[in-house]
Amino acid sequence: MATNNKNYPYRLLTPGPVPLHPDVQKILAEPMIHHRTPQFERTLKNVNEKLKDVFSTRQPVFMHTSTGTGAMESAIVNTLSPGDEVLVVVSGKFGERWAEMTKRFGLTVTPLMVEWGHAVDPAAIEKHLTAHPKTRAVFTQVCETSTATVHPIREIARVVKKHDSTLLIVDAITAVGAMVIEMDDWGLDVVIGGSQKAFMLPTGLSFIALSEKAWSFSESARLPKFYWDLRAEKKSLEKGETHFSAAVSLIRALEVSLELLTGPDKMRTLRRIEKLAKATRAIAEALGLRVYSQAPSASVTALATPLEIDSQKLREHIEKEFNLTLMGGQDKLKGKILRIGHLGYITDDDMMATVEILYHALRDFRSPTLPENALMAALGVMRHELATV
Ligand SMILES: Cc1ncc(COP(=O)(O)O)c(C=O)c1O
Repeated sequence: MATNNKNYPYRLLTPGPVPLHPDVQKILAEPMIHHRTPQFERTLKNVNEKLKDVFSTRQPVFMHTSTGTGAMESAIVNTLSPGDEVLVVVSGKFGERWAEMTKRFGLTVTPLMVEWGHAVDPAAIEKHLTAHPKTRAVFTQVCETSTATVHPIREIARVVKKHDSTLLIVDAITAVGAMVIEMDDWGLDVVIGGSQKAFMLPTGLSFIALSEKAWSFSESARLPKFYWDLRAEKKSLEKGETHFSAAVSLIRALEVSLELLTGPDKMRTLRRIEKLAKATRAIAEALGLRVYSQAPSASVTALATPLEIDSQKLREHIEKEFNLTLMGGQDKLKGKILRIGHLGYITDDDMMATVEILYHALRDFRSPTLPENALMAALGVMRHELATV
């Protein structure tokens, strides 16, 4: 197969892990300090304050030394009891994960099945809650990363808020820090994030915040827990400490990346992510590809490849020949989509190179839908989008 390898530098455009900011890389290389030192306690205090800004909450945001799934588990065991009835939005692989986990913990699970690539209709949640008033929690993603689809979380919260005995538990792993999430104002009860996403860090930290309502659930939650016990973490945090050994290097790096995710830079960072998503959607047509999702997310875009092209093979070709890692599709989307992430330290140069690489790879695969002059057109579209404020 013909290739057009021009010795491209390595690029990582996946929905996590993501390219690290140069300042984050620098701090990760610093010598270790102990977590029970005034120096680290200052960092912890600063990080805790800034995380509240990212989540838009007055509640403490806790860090677990785990991947995002650890914080998902923490959300379940800190708020619920065996046998509790729960509703789980299942619109892709991560909704399936909520359903599997809640079942494993002995909850009584009703899946709310949503066609892949579509957002959930809040009215369907409302209907279920009205018919099943004993429902203790609704589980959903903000962004279902496997289909690159965003759910209307604010509208879902409006529905759940009307039910005093129901929590809204939100996997915002590819959303918090990437789009506006107003935890307190919208009434989200549990919000979860992950370090290898918008936080621009390596994998290894997860984040979780509980509303007052969720804290009140925690008092009667009977699922067993030890490492994930947030009530113990809360006591330690009140003393300015973490309950267990802290992931010192990651938290020091987080202090750096939070500068970009809070205060005056917060909206600039969110707008940049939105712009990269818009630009990626805009080049699809020029390259003869289709945006897969009916409700596309800002953090990741799924592009459907023509039927004749196995996106998995295309993805492997792009990685091997052009040094660019993208993601393919999972499960029923395997071979059908390419997923491009918009989180982390992504430069304009990376975006222009991605257009060029996609073009050459599609030409190598003799894409039947690749228009004439596709390269010039797609580069022009990307240049225009990147120049748009
Ligand atoms: C929406 C969503 N939920 C959960 C996860 C799982 O996170 P982790 O792999 O960090 O456990 C991911 C990771 O990609 C995700 O995108």
